[in-house]
Amino acid sequence: MNLHVAILAAGKGTRMKSARPKVLHRVAGLPLIEHVLATAAALKPQTTTIVVGYQAAEVEEALLRHCGLTFVVQEPQLGTAHALLTTEQVLGHARGTVILLYGDVPLLSRATLENLVERHRSRKAAATVVTAIVDDPGGYGRIVRSGEQIARIVEEKDASSAERKIREINSGIYAFELAGLFDAVRSIATENAQREYYLTDLVAVYRKRGMNVETVIVPNADEIRGVNSRSEMAALSRIARDRKTAELMAAGVTIEDPATAYIDRDVTIGADTIIHPGVCLEGNTTIGGGCEIHSGVRIVNSAIGDRVTVFNHCVITDARVASDAKVGPFAHLRNDADIREKARVGNFVELKKTVLGEGSKSMHLAYLGDATIGERVNIGAGTITCNYDGEKKNQTIIEDGAFIGSDSQLIAPVTIGAGAYVGSGATIREDVPSGALAVSAGKQRNIEGWVDKRGKSRKSDRKR
Ligand code: UD1
Ligand code: CA
Repeated sequence: MNLHVAILAAGKGTRMKSARPKVLHRVAGLPLIEHVLATAAALKPQTTTIVVGYQAAEVEEALLRHCGLTFVVQEPQLGTAHALLTTEQVLGHARGTVILLYGDVPLLSRATLENLVERHRSRKAAATVVTAIVDDPGGYGRIVRSGEQIARIVEEKDASSAERKIREINSGIYAFELAGLFDAVRSIATENAQREYYLTDLVAVYRKRGMNVETVIVPNADEIRGVNSRSEMAALSRIARDRKTAELMAAGVTIEDPATAYIDRDVTIGADTIIHPGVCLEGNTTIGGGCEIHSGVRIVNSAIGDRVTVFNHCVITDARVASDAKVGPFAHLRNDADIREKARVGNFVELKKTVLGEGSKSMHLAYLGDATIGERVNIGAGTITCNYDGEKKNQTIIEDGAFIGSDSQLIAPVTIGAGAYVGSGATIREDVPSGALAVSAGKQRNIEGWVDKRGKSRKSDRKR
């Protein structure tokens, strides 16, 4: 269909007061420009060109995982018309339509983009401008119409006081026919308050030539809001989160307090799951149905099965929790922790690169790292897998049905056989065969009358 996308992302974003390029700041867990790329991808464009400038290398680097993007550098940045001209090296010989987007406008919907393309094509327009009608148009370019038709766009700094009262604003998002586009853009001058090459001037250029310029008015102006400052970014994050929670609730998820639910865009949650207040679900996280996630939980890039309960204040990153398991309160699952069906992890238990087999339990105060734990294993309070010998990490294997007594240290590499017992307080340096009991603490010795003797000597201390 000869559709191309160009995204402007060269600006410095001065008001962000940041060492990082503006388009890499995150809204709802995703860099601003990733939101734009995801929406643009819905159009299945033939090419996608990103105009970078300020900290170009950082922006390119952050987007490496996308294939098929072309980067062009705009240096110095002389305005939006100049930015579009830099894409001529990619699109100069292309045919069809280019959709121009901004890297700092993250909430634009797929429906609006599709509308834009549809209107542009059905009206055979040379250019189509996305506009919005707002209560406070301050800072935006205004749409000046003659009759129904758009006549030109005037920037706020160049507008008369009558023009400033116009409430229809320019979103800065357009569709352009590529034929003749770059020649027309080249004719734009810098006779304006900011001495910049304004792309907005193209509307008047086309209208004077009698060409057809169309507009599409977005129903909800939030879609075209850009990020210029940290507080605008927070405002857009709020909107993005509200959209996400509304979507989830419509799909059967209970969110007790949507205002305190921080759920990233790509998170999925099954029906009848209950999200208590103050929960953060981030990145590429999936949660099944019928779960209950209590307050203060943070889950990042993790997969949670069905009917899982996560009690308060757990941190779960890059981990898996299978169906019918229970975790927490105050558990820490990280880096490939793998909790199998019906397993149970209690308070102050940390798991890393560890499988906790089906129906196994570690209820209190444990560190389980680089371990493979079978089914129906009981890990006593205070158990530690000593996985690090100062140079490398070693494996602990605990086979099905084993029982690890409280306060045990398992010095890896070590294997505890199926059904074996480890006595409380043991330091296990050697494998324990299946069915054995391993004890390592010395024999207990009681010193009779010690407390009384200690009491007397203490009293005589005090008299002195
Ligand atoms: C622009 C529009 C204005 C519109 C507003 C919507 C012009 C002249 N004005 O104004 O009508 O209401 O957007 O948000 O187009 N950029 C570059 N290179 C440049 C200049 C800008 O890549 O040389 C990029 C910026 O990184 C940004 C976008 O273009 O993503 C918009 O630039 P900005 O300077 O913010 O334009 P506005 O003054 O907001
Ligand atoms: Ca802007």
